[in-house]
Amino acid sequence: YMNAGPARLPQWMVTLDYCRELGVPIEVFTNTNADAYLYNESSGMTKPVRYRTAKADVYGYVSELLAKATDKGALDKELTATDQEKLVEFLKDFGELGDKLTYGGGERRGYTTVPAAAGTPGVLLGDIPSASEVFASGVGRYFSFEFGFDQAMLMFQPVGGMDRIPRALTREIGAHRVRTGAAVSKITDKGNGVTVTYTQGGRTKSIDADYCIGALPPNILARIPHNLGSGVQSALEAITPQSAAKIGLEYRSRWWELDHGIYGGITETDQDVTHIWHPSYGFHGERGVLIGYYNYGGDADSYAKLTPEEREKRAVAAGVKIYGEKYRSELASSFSHHWRQTPHLEAAWHDTPGGPDDARYKPLNEPTGRVYFAGDWLSYTDAWQHGAFTSARKAVTTLHARVLSA
Ligand code: ALA
Repeated sequence: YMNAGPARLPQWMVTLDYCRELGVPIEVFTNTNADAYLYNESSGMTKPVRYRTAKADVYGYVSELLAKATDKGALDKELTATDQEKLVEFLKDFGELGDKLTYGGGERRGYTTVPAAAGTPGVLLGDIPSASEVFASGVGRYFSFEFGFDQAMLMFQPVGGMDRIPRALTREIGAHRVRTGAAVSKITDKGNGVTVTYTQGGRTKSIDADYCIGALPPNILARIPHNLGSGVQSALEAITPQSAAKIGLEYRSRWWELDHGIYGGITETDQDVTHIWHPSYGFHGERGVLIGYYNYGGDADSYAKLTPEEREKRAVAAGVKIYGEKYRSELASSFSHHWRQTPHLEAAWHDTPGGPDDARYKPLNEPTGRVYFAGDWLSYTDAWQHGAFTSARKAVTTLHARVLSA
C-alpha cells in the first residue's frame, strides 16, 4: 500500500494516543536515513551523494572554518578564551577535524569496501570534495528538516496504512452513526436547532440536530449556502486550499535494498519530484512501493495536469537520474494522487494567514448560533491529524460545557 495522504506521526502528537486507545498497531516511519541520497542537479551534481557523506563534508568544513576563525581571534569579542577552547573542542569532534583543525574526510563519509574480517580494514570513499565544492552543491539545505519539532525521528505509521485510524474510530463510534456519500448542500441555524441538507445517492435529504460541528474543509464550506453571516463567510474564504501530490511506484524487486543498501528514509532532490520515499515496511520482501514524488504547490499542480501515464513517465525519468535504470526497468505499476482533484476535499491542506487565532477567524473559533467549526485548518498544526483531533476536542469541550450549563 501507499499512504497517498497523511503518512507520518511524531511521538508527541495526540494521534498516537488514539492509536494506543483504538488498538491500531504502529511501526517506525523512516523519516531520515544516512544511506538515502541527496541530488541537486541544478548545482552541477551529476550523481547523488549519500546523506552521511554530505553531512560529514558539510559539518566537517563548517567546523574547520569556525575553528580556524576562532583560532585567529575572530570571536575574541564574543567568547572568553576558555569558551573558545570549549568551542574548538566541540568542533573537532563534531566535524572530525585533524590536529591542524582541518577536515580531511574519514569513516563518517562511508566506504567503497566496508570493514570486515582481519585483512579487510575497509576502503574509505575517495574523492573528498573541497569546501567550495561542498557549499556550491547545496546539499546542506536538507539537513535542518530533521530538526523540526514535527519531523524529528522517531516517527511512526499505522501498520497496514493510515486508514486504520478512521476505520478504528468508526468501529468505536458505531458505523450506523456515520453517513458516507452524503454531500452537504445547506446549513441552516434555526435558533433552536440546526438543519443540514445533503444529497445522498441522488436524493436530497436533511437532518435536524441540536447542534452542528462543521468539520468540512473551509474551501468546501465556503461554497455551501448557510445563514451564519458574512463574518463566517469571509473567514472561510480567507483560508486557502494548498496543493500536494504523491505517486506510488510499485516495483517487482526491492532493488533499493539489494543494490543501494537503502532501507527506508527519504531521498531529497531539486527535481520536480521533490521527495522520494523508500517504504518503511516490508523490508526484504519481494515487492515494494516507493513514493516517486511527494511535492507541493506548483510542482504538484504541474503533475496534476498530466495523465497518470505521463506522471509516471516524468517521475521515473527523474528517479533514473538518481538511482539508475532499475528505477524504470523494475517498475510494475503506479498510482498517483493530487488532492486538489479529490471531490469534497479539493485540497491537501490549507493556508490560514495570520494563524488560527487571528481576529478574522473569531466567527469560526466561537460558535455561531448552534454551529461550531473544527479542523486542522483551525489549529497550529495544519496538515496534521493532531490538528484536526485537538481542534475537534476544543469544539466538543466548548459544546459540552454549554449543554451542561443550559
Ligand atoms: N504533515 C505533512 C507532512 O509531514 C505536511 O508531510
